[in-house]
Formats: sequence, structure tokens, C-alpha cells
Amino acid sequence: MASDHREEKSMLDPDLGELPDLRNSKGHGFHCFKHDGVYLFVPPPSMLKGGHPLDRIKSIKEAELKDDDVIILAYPKCGTHWLWEVLEMLISGTIQYQKDVKETRMMEFLFKDGIEAVPHPRVFNTHLPLRMLPTQVVEKKVKCIQIMRNPKDACVSFFNHCRDMEKPYGYEGDFAEFTEAFLSRKMPFGSYSNYLLAWKDEEAASPELPVLNLFYEDMKIDPVKAVKDIAKFLKLTSTDQFCEEVAAACSFKKMKKVDQEMKGDLPLKIWKDGTEGTFYRKGEIGDWKNWFTVAENEKFDQIWNEKMKDSGFKFTYTPM
Ligand code: A3P
Repeated sequence: MASDHREEKSMLDPDLGELPDLRNSKGHGFHCFKHDGVYLFVPPPSMLKGGHPLDRIKSIKEAELKDDDVIILAYPKCGTHWLWEVLEMLISGTIQYQKDVKETRMMEFLFKDGIEAVPHPRVFNTHLPLRMLPTQVVEKKVKCIQIMRNPKDACVSFFNHCRDMEKPYGYEGDFAEFTEAFLSRKMPFGSYSNYLLAWKDEEAASPELPVLNLFYEDMKIDPVKAVKDIAKFLKLTSTDQFCEEVAAACSFKKMKKVDQEMKGDLPLKIWKDGTEGTFYRKGEIGDWKNWFTVAENEKFDQIWNEKMKDSGFKFTYTPM
């Protein structure tokens, strides 16, 4: 894999002061600030509303929640859009696509004031670890659904996402450089292995918290079963037929079409002009095989397996 990411250094941002310098030796990196050991994209000024990213992100912990809120937790590119649409249909009991984009329910874009302003019933989503979420998640035993995906496809998907993003978010390095960052912690939301290990510990530390752990690959292989499992977890009385309709309506093909035809605008312009930036790229299991060289794949396995060897997580890497 290409270049080394440097030891932690800082760089000066004209508005925000010191930020971590996450550039590698080729000058490619991410526009992030750091909170509680995790790098996070610096939100655009329109979302910060004059606040500092650190104060805004810390405010999330104080947000008031409602007992029947539901939260999707996921590392980037593991299927949040898909799960959000499924949840909204199940909870509303209708096959109606959300006109809003799921970013309008993303806790790290909303902060305390935005979270509290979302109308009921509410399905939030976040890439933040549990420890950065409202303390009321645990206190009120708010239902949490974690969706995980095999790390190689997540890495490919995240690379395509970051490559197509507008400045200052867009990643200008190549796939090998990105993969190296993905395996280190010098990434927005940290490395996926750290994210998962933290999730495992945080879930174990809150045994009363109602949690459903899902895998993207299981949802892809048997979407109807996944929808039924979700309905059961939410204690909904959805019929089998309705679950089948939800699974069909939320297929990749249907959701991609809906995204192109009827979704509202993103809260900010994130895609670079001239790119195909989209949240609905391929929607497959195993696309990583088109991206990794044999050597990169071996190196990925070596680093990932070493970090995750005692974790118990098992992923599906190829379609059945
Ligand atoms: P790819 O880039 O591999 O295509 P997130 O919603 O967390 O940002 O994840 C985005 C990934 O989920 C993208 O993966 C996207 O194509 C895929 N995806 C979105 N909707 C999907 C669906 N209905 N079925 C399967 N995959 C879906």
C-alpha cells in the first residue's frame, strides 16, 4: 500500500484554529477535527451556526429524546440509507418513500437543537460511537439498530464516496492510500475496526439497551427475513405481506430510482461537479474484488485479522 500517514501533527485552519493534520506523505488527507479520540468531518459553517465543531458535537449528549425514538448506528457506507427507508416504512405502516434525505436525521449534522426539533415519530441515524450520543439513549433505553458490513466493501464504498466529495471534504489520494488510512485511525469516524471494537464494549457496558445487530450482507441475501426481524424488534404488528412489500420497495434498484426522481436536496452540496457522486452506487456484496490487488488484499487481511482476532465479528465477503 502506498504511502505512510504521518504521526499526529496539527494544521492551522483560518476559522477554527488548530486541526489535526491527517495528510499522508503525498499530501492527501481529510478535513477533520478530533473529539474523544475520533476524527470527525468538520461540519460546514451553515451547520455550525457560529459554534465551534467541538462544542456543537458535545451538545449532542445533552439532547432530549423521546421514548419511542429509534437510532440507526453504523460506520459510513454500511447501509444506513437502506435501513432508514425500511424503518420509516415499517413504522408508518405505508409503502411511501421519504421525501427528505436521511442526512436530515443525522445526529452529527443536527446537534442538540436540531435533534430536539425533529418531528415525531423519529428515526435518527449516526456514525458516532454510542459514548458521543445523548445520555438519554441509555437512560430511556432507546431502541438502537447497528448495521455492519464486510470491511472491504465498506472501504471501497467509502473511497468512492470521499473521492467524489466537494472540497474541503473530497479525498484526492488513490485507493491504496485510502485503504491505508481506512486501516489506521486517521479517518473520518476512525478506523472501522476501532469503531466495531468500541461498539462491542459499549453494548456490553449497557446490557439494558435494546439493540438489534444487523449485517448488510444478510439483508441483501434475505431482505424479507431482515425486514421481519426489524419489525419484531420494534414490536410492530406488521404482516408478512407488508414486510415483503417493504423489502421489495427498498430494493437497491427501486431506491436508486427514487433518489434520482423524488428526493429533496441534501442539507449541503457534497458532490463535486463532474462526478457521479451518489449514495446508490452498486449495492452489491463483493465489489471489493474489483478494487484490491492480491497483495493489497493480503495486507488488508493481515492488519484487519490481527486487530479483530478476539472480537468475534464474522463477515460475509462474497455473494452466496
Ligand atoms: P456501494 O457504494 O457499495 O454501492 P450508506 O447508506 O451507509 O451511505 O451506505 C451506502 C452503501 O449502501 C452503498 O454501497 C449503496 O449503494 C448501498 N445501498 C444503498 N441502498 C441500498 C439498497 N437498497 N440495497 C443494497 N445496497 C444499498
